[in-house]
Amino acid sequence: MHWLLTGHTGFKGSWLALQLIEAGHEVSGLALDPEPGALFEAAELAPRMRTDLRGDIRDPQTVRSALDRTRPDVVVHLAAQPLVRESYRDPRTTMETNVMGTFNVLEAVGASASVQAHLLVTTDKVYRNVNQVAGYVESDALGGHDPYSASKAMSDLLAQSWLASFGGPPTAIVRAGNVIGGGDVSTDRLLPDLLRSFAAGTPAVIRYPDAVRPWQHVLDCLAGYRLIVDALLAGDGAGEWNIGPGPDSFVTVGALADLAARLWGDGATWTTDGAENPHEAALLALDATKARSVLGWADRLPFDRAVGWTVDWQRRVHAGEHPRDVTVDQLTAFEALPR
Ligand SMILES: NC(=O)c1ccc[n+]([C@@H]2O[C@H](COP(=O)([O-])OP(=O)(O)OC[C@H]3O[C@@H](n4cnc5c(N)ncnc54)[C@H](O)[C@@H]3O)[C@@H](O)[C@H]2O)c1
Repeated sequence: MHWLLTGHTGFKGSWLALQLIEAGHEVSGLALDPEPGALFEAAELAPRMRTDLRGDIRDPQTVRSALDRTRPDVVVHLAAQPLVRESYRDPRTTMETNVMGTFNVLEAVGASASVQAHLLVTTDKVYRNVNQVAGYVESDALGGHDPYSASKAMSDLLAQSWLASFGGPPTAIVRAGNVIGGGDVSTDRLLPDLLRSFAAGTPAVIRYPDAVRPWQHVLDCLAGYRLIVDALLAGDGAGEWNIGPGPDSFVTVGALADLAARLWGDGATWTTDGAENPHEAALLALDATKARSVLGWADRLPFDRAVGWTVDWQRRVHAGEHPRDVTVDQLTAFEALPR
């Protein structure tokens, strides 16, 4: 099977590309160049890609020609400006990338004769946040306070509208929560920020220690994506899906920071940022009952182990192991876990 990933040079894209390649698939990608130190480069993924295209999804012709050149069976649209704080700094690029970039992907996939399954990745932040304790279900209203959340809600609605109006290959929209895992080099994401500080031997500074997030290991999220693609290829699975962990993984930012500091050792600590910070949602929880009951999907890594695997990845790389070897070890260990 030949997969085209937009955003293959990013965090989720690199894990997914390596996982698919290890499983014997052919993988092409369209994205911007990787960030310095990104997993894509550290794990030396470029030579293992069937086609490694660099281009901007804001340009319709770039996206169309990527589909024409690669003629994939499956498209997973991951490329985005995915950071809340960056969306306050640069709302225009965030909107253009996340909304019109998605438009360009929908249009190009719709015109492609090869695509049999299309997965569009949005986020838990697409839901209108009413600070409800019960998780959001797929039929809940969408909304978005900050520019990132709004852009993703718009891309989600855009995809629903496109599919209802123009059809296209079997398509699913997947909303997942905060994922963690080794090799995430983004700034302004909690665990990468923490691990960078721990490795440098400086106290980490965190915002919103009381905010609750649904933490999930990237491999559990990707396992959900792949089950949905399997369903699409079997003629099922179109529509919206939540992929998120159970309530045991709805944990405060402060509790996650405590656990990560304890697992890292070496006297790692954190403090709270006293500065005025832009608004971020205080409570976000997803209800993934649909994915569990229809697809048989379930998290294999509970919260403690998801954090443990992430800290372990970073520790091993910090100690000199090759990021590709550590990543492949974790892919193999994950496959061996009971489902
Ligand atoms: N990581 C998370 O916790 C999380 C949570 C919910 C949803 N998501 C969603 O998952 C997807 C992947 O996120 P990630 O964590 O891997 O992000 P990332 O920042 O690591 O990767 C983003 C990818 O998109 C590409 N990209 C950005 N702008 C582009 C443009 N204009 N043209 C072409 N490519 C472009 C980058 O080159 C990169 O390959 C995003 O859609 C994001 O919104 C992520």
